[in-house]
Amino acid sequence: MQRKRIHMLVLAGGLLGGLALAAPVMAADAPAAPAAAAAPAAAAPTSAEAEKAAKEAAIAAAIAAPPADAAMLANTCAGCHGTNGVSAGPSMPSIAGMPAPYLKHVMAEFKSGKRPSTIMGRIAKGYTEEETSRIADFLSKAKWQNVASHANSQLATKVDDARAKKGKKLVDTQKCGKCHEDDGLTQDEDTPRMAGQWVDYLLIKMQDFKNQHLTVPQPEKMQKAIDKLSPQELEDIAHFYASKR
Ligand code: HEC
Ligand code: HEC
Repeated sequence: MQRKRIHMLVLAGGLLGGLALAAPVMAADAPAAPAAAAAPAAAAPTSAEAEKAAKEAAIAAAIAAPPADAAMLANTCAGCHGTNGVSAGPSMPSIAGMPAPYLKHVMAEFKSGKRPSTIMGRIAKGYTEEETSRIADFLSKAKWQNVASHANSQLATKVDDARAKKGKKLVDTQKCGKCHEDDGLTQDEDTPRMAGQWVDYLLIKMQDFKNQHLTVPQPEKMQKAIDKLSPQELEDIAHFYASKR
C-alpha cells in the first residue's frame, strides 16, 4: 500500500513536471565576428581563403561569447526540482547544495543510460557536457534548505520521531556513516546530501538500490548493507535522515 502510493507520487510529480517543462534555453547567439568583416580588406584573398578566415573568426567568436547564464539553464530543472533546486514535492529530490561532482556524474549517467530513470535520461540528453557542468556548479553553490522548512506539501510523509530513533540505530549498526558522515549532514564529493531530504524520496531511492532488477550505480559496500535491511527498516532510516537538520 505504502509502496503503491509512493510510485503514484512519482508519476504525478513527473506529469506535473512535464507540464512545467519549458522549451530548452538556447546558448546566446555568438556575436558577429569582427575579423570576418575585416577579411575582404586583406590583400586580395582568394574566396576560399576568405571563407576559411570567416569560419575561423566565427569559431573564435563562439568560444569567446559570454556563456548562457547558468541560472537560466538551471531554470529548466526548476519545473520539477523547485526554484534553484529546492524541491517542493516529496517524490522529487532537492538538489540545491549537492556537491557538483556528484551532480555531474549522475547527469552523465542519466544521459548515457547507465542510470535508470523515468525522466532524467531524456532531460540530460538535452545538454552538452559543458552546459551540465555549469548547471552543476550553479546548483552546488545554492544553499541547501531542509525540505520540511519551506515546503507545504500535503502529500509528504511527516517525520516520525520514534521511527527516526530506530533508523539511527540501524545506520550505526550498518556503518552508513562511513560515507554519509555526521548523520547525512556532510558527505564526500561523490555522495548526495541526505539530512533534511524528503522521507519519501529517500525511501524511493533505497528501494531502487535494493531492487535487483534495476542496475542503479552504487558502491558495493552500500548495496550489501542495504540488502540486509527489511522494507520497514529502510522506512525507519528514511525517517532518520529526513529528521536531521
Ligand atoms: C520533468 C521533471 C524533471 C525535470 C525538468 C528535471 N528533473 Fe531531475 N529528476 C526528475 C525525476 C523524476 C528524478 C528521479 C529519477 C527519474 O526517475 O528520472 C530526478 C532526479 C534527478 C537527480 C538525482 C538526484 C539524486 O540524488 O538521486 C538529479 C541530480 C537531477 N534530477 C538533476 C536535474 C537537473 C540538473 C535538471 C535540469 C537540467 C533536472 N534534474 C530537471 C525529474 C525532473
Ligand atoms: C561506501 C560508501 C557508502 C556506504 C557505506 C553507504 N553509502 Fe549510501 N551512498 C553512497 C554513494 C556514493 C551514493 C550515491 C550513489 C549514486 O551515485 O547514486 C549513496 C547514496 C545513498 C542514498 C540516495 C540519496 C539520494 O539523494 O539519492 C541513500 C538513501 C543512501 N545512500 C543510504 C545509505 C544507507 C542507509 C547506508 C547504510 C545502510 C549507506 N547509504 C551506506 C555511499 C555509501
